[in-house]
Amino acid sequence: MNQKRVLSGIRASGRLHLGNYLGAVKGMLALQDDPNYETFYMVADLHSITTPYEVRSFQKAVREVVLDYLGAGIDPQKSTLFVQSHVPEHLELAYLLSSTVSIARMSHLPTYKEKVKQYPENVNVALLNYPILMAADILAYKADAVPVGDDQLPHLEVTREIARKMNEKYGLQFPEPVQFKTEGHLIPSLTGEGKMSKTIEGSYINLTDNLATVQARLAAAPTDSGKGDKVPEEGGVANLLKLVEIIEGRAKRQTYEEQYKGGGIKYSELKASLASAIYESLKPIQEKRKYYEERPDEVEKIVIEGAKKARAIAKATLTQVKKAMGLI
Ligand code: TRP
Repeated sequence: MNQKRVLSGIRASGRLHLGNYLGAVKGMLALQDDPNYETFYMVADLHSITTPYEVRSFQKAVREVVLDYLGAGIDPQKSTLFVQSHVPEHLELAYLLSSTVSIARMSHLPTYKEKVKQYPENVNVALLNYPILMAADILAYKADAVPVGDDQLPHLEVTREIARKMNEKYGLQFPEPVQFKTEGHLIPSLTGEGKMSKTIEGSYINLTDNLATVQARLAAAPTDSGKGDKVPEEGGVANLLKLVEIIEGRAKRQTYEEQYKGGGIKYSELKASLASAIYESLKPIQEKRKYYEERPDEVEKIVIEGAKKARAIAKATLTQVKKAMGLI
C-alpha cells in the first residue's frame, strides 16, 4: 500500500467560516475518506502571529479552530489533527529551506503585498517568511496534495519551487505538491467584492452562526433594483447569485437570472431562501462541534496524539534534510 500524503492548515485568526468550509474543508473530508491518502490537518498558529493578534485569547482561538475541524467532520481516527507549533520541526525545516529562497521572490508575492497594504504598521520578517513556513509544513510530510482555496496557489507555487531546488541542490526527493481542488474553491464575499475572508468584516458567514445571524449577514449584502437587461457579473448581486449556485444549485440561480431580466428579483425572498439553505447545511456541523466542545479532555487528547504522530514524520524528514545539507 503506497498511500499519498495530504497536508493542509487553517490559520487561527477568527472563526472558520463558510468560505473555508466549502473551499478547503470539504476537500479535506473527501481525502480523509479515500484509502489512497494519508491525511494531516493542522491549525496554523505560527502563521497567525504574522499579523496583529490578541495574545490573551490566542489559546482559545487555536482551540476554536480544532473544534471547527472536528465539527466539520475531520475524524481523528482517519486524519492526524494537530497544532502547528506543537511540531517545532516545521520551524527548523523552514529555516533550512529559506536558504534557497530569494528575498525578491517573497516580496513580490501578491499575498505579501496584500498584507503590507492591510497592515502598513506591521511589515515584519515573519510575514516575508510566511510562504517558506508553509512550504515547510507541506514538505515535512512530503505531501503530494494540498486541499486549499485558490488564494493559496502562489504559496503552493513557492513550495514547488523550493522542493525542486532542494532536490537539485541536495539530492533530496521531495514531491512537488499540487492543489486538491474542491467545487466552490472560491467562495464570494457578502460585501460584493472579492472572496469571503475572516479578516474582512461583513464578508463571511461563520460555521457557528444561527439562522438569525445568517439572515442578518445576508440582509447586509448589497443589491440593486433587482432588474435589468443584463445580470451583473461582478459586485453584490453577482456574488449573491454565485452563493445561490453553490448552496442551492444551478437551476435555482437560473430562475433568479430569468426574474432579473423579466419582472425583477425580490431580494428579500432570495436572501430568506438562501439563509435557510445555508443554515440547513450548518446544523449538523454545529451539533458535532457541540459534542466536542463539551468534552475538552477528549479534544486535548486528540491534539496531543496528533502532534506525536506528526512529529515522528517531520523529525525523520528534518534529519534527512540536515544530512543532505551537511549539517550532520
Ligand atoms: N496559508 C494558509 C491560509 O492562509 C494556511 C496554511 C498554513 C496552510 N500552512 C499550510 C495551508 C500548509 C495548506 C498547507 O489559508
